[in-house]
Amino acid sequence: MNARGSAHSRRSGVGVTRRGLLAATIGGSATALAGRLGRPFGVPAVLGASTGPVKVGVLLPYSKVYQQLGDDITSGMVLYFEGVKFGAGGRSITMIREDEEIDPQVALRKGRKLIENDNVDIISGLVASPSAVAIRDVVHNSKTLFLIANAGANVMTRARRSPYIFRVSFSNWQTSYPMGKWFYDNIARSCLVGAADYAAGHEDVDAFKASYLAAGGKVVAEVYPPLNNTDYGPYVTQMQKAKPEAIFVFFAGSDAARFVIQAAAFGLFKDARLAGPGFLVEEDVLPAQGRNALGAYSSLHWALTLQTPENLAFTRAYRARWQRDATVYAMQGYDTARVIVEALNATGGDTTNKSKLVEAVANVRFTSPRGPISFDPETHNVIQTVYVRQVREVGNTIHNVVFGNLGVFKDPGA
Ligand code: BEZ
Repeated sequence: MNARGSAHSRRSGVGVTRRGLLAATIGGSATALAGRLGRPFGVPAVLGASTGPVKVGVLLPYSKVYQQLGDDITSGMVLYFEGVKFGAGGRSITMIREDEEIDPQVALRKGRKLIENDNVDIISGLVASPSAVAIRDVVHNSKTLFLIANAGANVMTRARRSPYIFRVSFSNWQTSYPMGKWFYDNIARSCLVGAADYAAGHEDVDAFKASYLAAGGKVVAEVYPPLNNTDYGPYVTQMQKAKPEAIFVFFAGSDAARFVIQAAAFGLFKDARLAGPGFLVEEDVLPAQGRNALGAYSSLHWALTLQTPENLAFTRAYRARWQRDATVYAMQGYDTARVIVEALNATGGDTTNKSKLVEAVANVRFTSPRGPISFDPETHNVIQTVYVRQVREVGNTIHNVVFGNLGVFKDPGA
């Protein structure tokens, strides 16, 4: 199940190049355009590396549990690039998309293809932590600038960090650690924790537990359904047996939609308050979850309803362009594109001098729709504010409303 279907895999050729978009406009079918995944548009082989288009490899899931996340990141990137007419530092920008399929082996193969065959100047994207880890060595050894637009694997900006890797999105620690103490102080003295059973799920739960237990909280049980799951019945039954007063769980994409709907149907939320990192009830899944998600608490670095001039401009432009609400993933794509553009403007479009390019990215800082952001000079992980949100009725719709600010967080880096 997917909450809202897949914009980029089904709807059009968005997320490619201006020429790709033109092809879409003049009658390219969705299938024909999907067939163009991975092929650059209009790049004459004779052009030198610093005079032709800057090639941005976009490696994202366009299938399975995180398909919508990949689509939203692409839509955010396209929106920002369109705003600068797909150009920066005197060069045009071209996007070459590949589906990482949430499979580390596929991510590695496609990452190699983008770097070695397509000669991309920059790799961006990656939603699933294991896929990001899989391409780490190939980007580091080839000195390819890598801008992570979602994948939170802590290790990417800790033990396995690289001068060429920057994370625009978050570390898994960053989204959940800040919530532990707040949850103890405001929601429940004991709780159940759970997650999709893979690296990101465990890192989120571990980070939450670190601050929750330190505050004095007690964890009564832990439940880990597989990633890309369909039937949560047995896991919800297990959760109910522990009789928790609250639960803190990591699920994202179609897993999050399914978990919340099925757990509500089993009556879990009658007795247990629901909370998690914001992906659990983010705007991509809320339309499917509907009233089942009402009251859920979450921690995240953005919300659709943040009332800042930057967020109002972004969310309005996104809705006007794509006829749907923005999500945290769309915002991360938008900011990733902005980092690329600002770095290219700073180097005058030079992508060959790698240390200059890295320095240019390290110096990028701006007020994003999420609030002010910059990169930690040591880890290259984003430094940002983490908010507490609650799913509430807003007029006749349901959205995440920010009602607390947990502070500005940088990943500890170790
Ligand atoms: C991850 O695998 O790092 C991840 C995926 C979806 C949402 C958040 C994190």
